[in-house]
Amino acid sequence: MKWDTIILGAGAAGMMCATQTGGRTLVLDHAKAPGEKIRISGGGRCNFTNMYAGPENFLSGNPHFCKSALSRYTQWDFVDLVAAHGIPYHEKTLGQLFCDNSAKDIIAMLRAEMTKAGAQLRLETSVVSVRHDGTAFTVETEKAGQRQTQNCTNLVLATGGKSIPKMGATGLAYDLALQFGLSLTETRAGLVPFTFSEQRFKDISGVALPVRAAANGVSFEEAMLFTHRGLSGPAMLQISSYWQEGQEIIVNLFPDSDPLSVLRSRRQEQGRRNLTTELATLLPARLVDHLSGSLDLRGNLADQSDSALNSLCEALQSWRLRPSGTEGYRTAEVTLGGINTDGLSSKTMESKSLPGLFAIGEAVDVTGWLGGFNFQWAWSSGWAAGQSI
Ligand code: FDA
Repeated sequence: MKWDTIILGAGAAGMMCATQTGGRTLVLDHAKAPGEKIRISGGGRCNFTNMYAGPENFLSGNPHFCKSALSRYTQWDFVDLVAAHGIPYHEKTLGQLFCDNSAKDIIAMLRAEMTKAGAQLRLETSVVSVRHDGTAFTVETEKAGQRQTQNCTNLVLATGGKSIPKMGATGLAYDLALQFGLSLTETRAGLVPFTFSEQRFKDISGVALPVRAAANGVSFEEAMLFTHRGLSGPAMLQISSYWQEGQEIIVNLFPDSDPLSVLRSRRQEQGRRNLTTELATLLPARLVDHLSGSLDLRGNLADQSDSALNSLCEALQSWRLRPSGTEGYRTAEVTLGGINTDGLSSKTMESKSLPGLFAIGEAVDVTGWLGGFNFQWAWSSGWAAGQSI
């Protein structure tokens, strides 16, 4: 069968691309349903974009690469589409837009737009091989034990990254990119919880608080959650994308208050009060209990010298922690790195060396922060490729 375009992967980027391509378009996916990551995203409500999305919210070997697509198909373009489909949504926090009802609304919207554009979708179809004869691609597929050959002029790599292999993530886009002369940047798990040896925070698992977390010179002010295995919550997921194996993370437990002046004035007014009791009015009591294992929290406020209070507050405002690792691709929301942007046009996502080959979405070395940015990249890059085809 001859197609103008075959899109490998019916995820966020692949579906968006299929809403824009002209001509005969086929979207192939090995999963039972399209957009499975959309379905589970944002706790089932899909944080589909961010009101403040801009190039500064993305990590890439080339921080300029994402600019063109993001500026030509913006968060507001996607919001307009959502509104045109009558999907109710709201801002949760920090510009993050979520569906009021269900992430399935976004999948249904993309399916409807694909149908309108005349794109066909084939599920439970795996890719056996892809060849290029100098003018066209030949894609050999298998469905229910049956092999078929499809030909196309344009091939779009949209099979995403390696995160959550249980949901069908594979390295297909990377393998095909290499096969057709593109290079890869190193990949690793991003937006992922940290692990610590010996279940270091087991006793305070479930405790959450706002912090400022820093690694590699970058910091985020969001919530942190202690877990049986280590540290999670938005602040930790965000910083995990910047952290490198072996490095420390620095946690400020008082991101927007000055504990030293509070403790000093309380020492003056209520010197007889117990230090741990006072700290427990500023921090979760279970956390104070946990910290008393490593910090000297004995005595009353009046017993604390200026320098003792100073060192205590310094320790609480720059708590240095060295994770043993992360939970890896098993739970990572995204894959950092991927198809090297050097080989792609930032305007069209087309390979510079093999016209007709495109790469979009998470497979490309562009990774967003937590908060709807990764879907925005999928929409913008999918749209840019689809428009140029
Ligand atoms: P995506 O992974 O969506 O799609 C790839 C498609 O290719 C899949 O349908 C897969 O089945 C298919 N495929 C893979 N290998 C194949 C093969 N060998 N053959 C055939 N098909 C193959 N982002 C955000 O902005 N807001 C959010 O709320 C969330 N929430 C979230 C929660 C969780 C739990 C995860 C894991 C991730 C998120 N994300 C997110 C990230 C977001 O889901 C992700 O960045 C996008 O889905 C990437 O879109 P892509 O289309 O590139 O890949």
